Order: sequence, then structure tokens, then C-alpha cells
Amino acid sequence: MTYVITENCIKCKYTDCVEVCPVDCFHEGPNFLVINPEECIDCSLCEPECPINAIVSEDDLKDEDKKYLEINTRLSATWPLITEAKAAPEDAKEWENKPDKLKLLEE
Ligand code: SF4
Ligand code: F3S
Repeated sequence: MTYVITENCIKCKYTDCVEVCPVDCFHEGPNFLVINPEECIDCSLCEPECPINAIVSEDDLKDEDKKYLEINTRLSATWPLITEAKAAPEDAKEWENKPDKLKLLEE
């Protein structure tokens, strides 16, 4: 079992989630974060840290979000680790809960 970062993180990237992870399995891309499912120990500590509820247990993924397990797996293999929180993008607030953000994901 793993936790998965889903669409709402795209272009928000608040990074509040990264510092609580006991196994440092968050990876950072240009406008999104992912979790390495191979490393995640399912501790659930990160889930309540995200202010926009972008982190979801694999078991609780909605059908439309199931593709994010593959996206987290694939991108965590190449994106660098992130272990310290940093400033969010200046326009992050404007992107909260916007639909159809997957097309804006920068790999
Ligand atoms: Fe890290 Fe725990 Fe979140 Fe998995 S559930 S990414 S181990 S904080
Ligand atoms: Fe993304 Fe939420 Fe973490 S917006 S970077 S999953 S705190």
C-alpha cells in the first residue's frame, strides 16, 4: 500500500507534505510532487499536511484518480528527492481545486 499525490497538487505544490515523511520518498518536478510507491511505508502522516487534500491512500483513489498511481510510480523514478518545504508558486491559490489540471503537468 502507498499514498499517492493526485491532480490537485498540480500548479499548487505547497510542499507542506514533505517534511513529515519518515522515509523521504517525495520527489519534485517543475509543478507537481510525487510519492515513490516502492518506498512509502503507508504511515499516513503526510495526508493531513496537504492543505488541499491532494494526497490519497491508494485504496481510496477515485476511479478518475487511479491513473495517478502510475504517474507517481513513473515520475518518482527520475525526479529528484525533496525533503524540505519551500515557497509555493506565487499563483498557487488561483489553481486550487481547478478541474482538468493534468494537461498542465510538466514532466
Ligand atoms: Fe511518506 Fe508516510 Fe506519506 Fe508514505 S504515507 S509518503 S511514508 S509520510
Ligand atoms: Fe502538493 Fe499538497 Fe504536498 S499541494 S506538494 S501534495 S502539500
